[in-house]
Amino acid sequence: MILVTGGAGFIGANFVLDWVASTDEPVVNLDALTYAGNLESLTSLQGNPRHVFVKGDITDRALLDRLLAEHRPRAIVHFAAESHVDRSIHGPGDFIRTNVNGTFTLLEAARAHWLSLDADAKAAFRFHHVSTDEVYGSLSPTAPAFTETHPYEPNSPYSASKAASDHLVRAWFHTYGMPVVTTNCSNNYGPYHFPEKLIPLMIVNALAGKPLPVYGDGQQVRDWLYVKDHCSAIREVLARGTPGETYNVGGWNEKPNLEIVHTVCALLDELKPDPAGSYKRLITFVTDRPGHDRRYAIDARKLERELGWKPAETFETGIRKTVQWYLENAAWVANVQSGSYRDWVSKQYGA
Ligand code: NAD
Ligand code: DAU
Repeated sequence: MILVTGGAGFIGANFVLDWVASTDEPVVNLDALTYAGNLESLTSLQGNPRHVFVKGDITDRALLDRLLAEHRPRAIVHFAAESHVDRSIHGPGDFIRTNVNGTFTLLEAARAHWLSLDADAKAAFRFHHVSTDEVYGSLSPTAPAFTETHPYEPNSPYSASKAASDHLVRAWFHTYGMPVVTTNCSNNYGPYHFPEKLIPLMIVNALAGKPLPVYGDGQQVRDWLYVKDHCSAIREVLARGTPGETYNVGGWNEKPNLEIVHTVCALLDELKPDPAGSYKRLITFVTDRPGHDRRYAIDARKLERELGWKPAETFETGIRKTVQWYLENAAWVANVQSGSYRDWVSKQYGA
């Protein structure tokens, strides 16, 4: 079996759902259920003996030791993190605790487990660290996309904490020989995305007739990847990636934020027209994010060359599926918009 951390979050839940659907292997899912963790994303797995959910924290070494001794996983796929850049600006402490100390604790527990395995199981074991393109910093408009050898230049507390975790994972390979792989992925979008991030926030705000807050001039560029393509890349790297290597994952879909917001509005105009006119009327330019990275772009050729992975979705197909999913899952959205969600919205966007 495999152990997944953070499997009740956006990408982790998509990964667990895809894993159970596409393999016969059980998965133990360890998640602290922070504001970002949501068991409702996993309701289709209720009663499924191949999914074991454990509520717990990756900084809890005793719990990790117990879980690893009980389940003896052949691999750990590590998603658990604080993931929102704006929250890291308001409160960096949780990001250091989970992303740095939590990854360290998990690595140490994994190392003890790995050392207890017999020679064959030891060689086959994998610690898969799920990371981000944000560790590479910001690109000028014409600079080539990030390759795996691009220097680390993290600019936010979030990206600095993820960079620190990447370095720890690298060191556990070089110093202890533990078989690790790391993937650095671009911006994901798709089902079960918490509506504090750009795309789901724009969809739920538009449907509620609320302003669509665009930071600064809206010309910051991100590369967008449909979440299920990220999950397939992780499965590929877990199965056939070389220990000690890192792989960039991206969608070849570089787009400025304002274009993303226009696309979401146009799809909503088509699928759920608003009698008051186009949703574009709600676009509102607001104060920019401090230290806002201008451009990210991913060169994912290594993953294609070495493991044959390519995204299945274009941005056009993926964003249509995403908007449709939010229209069909109003109850999921309503349930995540709890008191703590409303507190965050008023802290970040004011009145
Ligand atoms: P998310 O915020 O939606 O989910 C994070 C999950 O981790 C939640 O379920 C939360 O409860 C859990 N968690 C947080 N702290 C924990 C702790 N101390 N112990 C156990 N569980 C804890 O995040 P996401 O967007 O799904 O991202 C998952 C991973 O992928 C992160 O490591 C992130 O850095 C990385 N990543 C995200 C993106 C993206 O676009 N969202 C892109 C590249 C990489
Ligand atoms: O690049 C990968 C990263 O993508 C992941 O590592 C992070 O976990 C994930 O949150 C995401 O980070 P971003 O900061 O790029 O995502 P976010 O959705 O917060 O913002 C996307 C862009 O949209 C960014 O340039 C900021 C802008 N934005 C965001 C929000 C929430 C707005 O203009 N308005 C908003 O209200």
